[in-house]
Amino acid sequence: MTIAFLNDQFLPLEEARISPMDRGFLFGDGIYEVIPTLHGKAVGMNAHLDRLQNGLDELAITNPKTKAQWTELVSELVTKNTQALNSASVGVYIQVSRGTEMKRAHGYPDNITPTVFAFAFATAAPPVPDKAAVVTFDVASGEDKRWQRCNIKSTSLLGNVMHYQQGRQAGKQEIILLNSRREVTEASSCNVFVVKEGIIMTPPLDHQILPGITRKLVIESLAAEGVEVQEVPVTAEVLFSADEVWLTSSSKEISPVTSVDDKPVGNGQAGDVWLKAITAFNKHKFTL
Ligand code: PDD
Repeated sequence: MTIAFLNDQFLPLEEARISPMDRGFLFGDGIYEVIPTLHGKAVGMNAHLDRLQNGLDELAITNPKTKAQWTELVSELVTKNTQALNSASVGVYIQVSRGTEMKRAHGYPDNITPTVFAFAFATAAPPVPDKAAVVTFDVASGEDKRWQRCNIKSTSLLGNVMHYQQGRQAGKQEIILLNSRREVTEASSCNVFVVKEGIIMTPPLDHQILPGITRKLVIESLAAEGVEVQEVPVTAEVLFSADEVWLTSSSKEISPVTSVDDKPVGNGQAGDVWLKAITAFNKHKFTL
């Protein structure tokens, strides 16, 4: 049994209840974050809380907590669930929806109290910095059919969920999405990096992708080691001829992709640049 947080109290996750009139339920009208922790230490806490604030600002929802209060909540959830989860890697999900109103109307209601929900869950162990032992990903590709505000970490994830399922139906663990110009945007739940002829590239930040915190930490930790990442459009042609492809997210950190649509990436194994990146990430992830 794990302990969750709903509005102003901790309670067993199974007992958490909200009204079906909550706008998070009716409209997906809310923002969420997933904050990774390792042995109780959060990765990128400040950046996650900045992104939460940006998302809430986009939706004109007042942030119900200060950064210090969120930090305290995340740490309390990890502590309260350490025994039940029995895992060194714990993710904390936090969600703020606009709140509950006893009528269904599209317009934002005045004077509504946001609903705050958070819980902790065990995540897979982070990738091991070993080319032979790391867990690798086989992915599909597909046309990105999501909305034009993918920079907002909205709880309206149906587009992402459907794309993830599309990849799964193709027997793959993720799907890399391409816009109408056949440029990579991101994957259904991760950002994408490619390496070609020694150049590390990732699509630039705009409305087509989530500004991933792992993406940011990867760029910054490589920069700290004197390695540049180019934030440039990545065409399908570059994707399919890349020497390496990586997925980045809070739970996957930097995970190598070894095939796209059954075509091997490079030599079909995790690459040397990936090893350099995960090594830099592990060195700097708690301090950036
Ligand atoms: N997914 N792009 C999308 C669409 C995502 O959903 C995520 C994260 C990322 C990577 O962001 P970050 O590095 O900040 O985790 C990119 C989370 C983990 C999820 O929905 O579970």
